[in-house]
Amino acid sequence: MANNEILYQTIANAQWWRSSVIYQIYPRSFADGNGDGIGDLKGITEKLPYLADLGIDAIWCSPFFKSPQKDAGYDVSDYKDIDPLFGNLQDFDDLVSASKKLGIKVIVDLVPNHTSDQHELFQAALAAPEGSAERAMYIFRDGKGKNGELPPNNWPSVFGGNAWTRITNADGTAGQWYLHIFDSSQPDLDWTNPAVLEMFDGVLRFWLDRGAAGFRIDVAHGMIKRAGLPDIEVIDTTMGGATAKDEKDLTFAEIEAFNPYWGQPEVHPIIRRWRKVLEEYDDRLMAAEAWLGPLDRMANWVRPDEYHQAFNFGYLDCPWDKAELTAVINESLRAFGNVGAPSTWVLSNHDVVRHATRFAYEHATLPAQGDGIGPDFAQPDEAKGLRLARAASAFMLGLPGGAYIYQGEELGLPEHTTLGGAYRQDPTYARTQGKRVGRDGCRVPLPWVSKANESNGFSSTGESWLPQPSSFARYARDLQDGVAGSTLEVYKRVLKMRKQFNLGAGNFRWAPEFMDETTLAYINNGVLVLANFAGKSVVIPAGEILATTQTDLTIEGELEHDQTVWIKL
Ligand code: NOJ
Repeated sequence: MANNEILYQTIANAQWWRSSVIYQIYPRSFADGNGDGIGDLKGITEKLPYLADLGIDAIWCSPFFKSPQKDAGYDVSDYKDIDPLFGNLQDFDDLVSASKKLGIKVIVDLVPNHTSDQHELFQAALAAPEGSAERAMYIFRDGKGKNGELPPNNWPSVFGGNAWTRITNADGTAGQWYLHIFDSSQPDLDWTNPAVLEMFDGVLRFWLDRGAAGFRIDVAHGMIKRAGLPDIEVIDTTMGGATAKDEKDLTFAEIEAFNPYWGQPEVHPIIRRWRKVLEEYDDRLMAAEAWLGPLDRMANWVRPDEYHQAFNFGYLDCPWDKAELTAVINESLRAFGNVGAPSTWVLSNHDVVRHATRFAYEHATLPAQGDGIGPDFAQPDEAKGLRLARAASAFMLGLPGGAYIYQGEELGLPEHTTLGGAYRQDPTYARTQGKRVGRDGCRVPLPWVSKANESNGFSSTGESWLPQPSSFARYARDLQDGVAGSTLEVYKRVLKMRKQFNLGAGNFRWAPEFMDETTLAYINNGVLVLANFAGKSVVIPAGEILATTQTDLTIEGELEHDQTVWIKL
């Protein structure tokens, strides 16, 4: 069990990203400024005052670049322009300047592992002959079998099916195969080609020059494929790779050999190169989406000259369980601390089932990351999920380091778990013939004004690219704003206290003197954060209550099960 030594200490004059709260915006689902049913940059700019009121430090916008939208914008056809669905470059500039006035930084999403198949480079590669410089931007290989009719190896696409697609030559004959770790519309770039490196230096500078505070890096542990493209032993379609579950018994080199397209050592020089580009500017950030386990291995990607921070997926995947939370927090603070990086804390994003729904299930019964929950899956106990989610978020937001919030979690939004197949747009659904329903359930447009129209005020017309579940009318922002005890007010309060007591850059220690077998407690900069995991209430320690998830304080002085409280000692 934890003792009370200080596990995390303030760094004097630390950079903003070491302690900031970053709010993830999924642009197509945040706010629709033009009534077409798809969120856009104007919509984000209009709603910035709400985000300032929430108390976040920065927004990270999922991709808004030119894209055929085969994977909701993670298939980029022009890295230096905005897709008309979302607006134009002027709208981006307006967003940056309006954000700046409110003290909010804007982080953009860089997608380096692959382009869209509609990118001019891929189109040129298709038109060019085998062995040409154009083809060398991507990973083309001859097929196996007598006539090259079999894919070059056995790698699966993360979204289901094969990771290779065979092209047809200009003369109608069958040609080479190209690699796509994701959808066939997302061909992987060849990052061993210097021309690819140079191209991305330009992309980084383009957005940094325009005022981006930095980048969230998509598939930040992808990019390099193991030489010889060896077959894999276990077919696994998660972004962590096949050994993710029993990796503790393996050396890092063994894990890398086992997962020939995730976390290869040759990615590090690429990161270092990018870091140098960022350091031409003042204080910018790279946050890595790198599904690497164990945490010690992930920490190797945030060494001082690499990414600044990485999403802590170990924490995201942790159930609401005292022992497991203790372990993952200890491991995170130790592993990231060893390399001088802040830990991050995150519970939801656009690729996982929302935590208000995850916590409604026994952890072991949840589908694999990316598979989603559909109408045929056991339906969640919504009240339980919400209760645990509130407790878990309030517990998380007191921790030192960088914290991430996914749009809508501040409203307690659940996953849309009954979305019909006809609406499903995640390529996973089509590529698996509906066997894996995919990630649309966490991407449903936000409810702003309850019953204002069909989309609860997401758009002025009621249009919405995905329908909301009927429950969203109950979660709309207007019903929660200023309402004591609402999830939104709990978030606002803990974010305010987090800032006031500088918890992001605090001094953290466990507080065994306030714990019994059913509670978990830590002290950060003099603030006690205590959560109760038991079926019974516990006495709240003396002190000023700064924030609590417990709305019903009928039994004064007692904290009910699955509630969190912040106390100024
Ligand atoms: C990770 C992104 O978060 C996800 O949404 C996307 O589908 C894949 N990378 C491919 O870009």
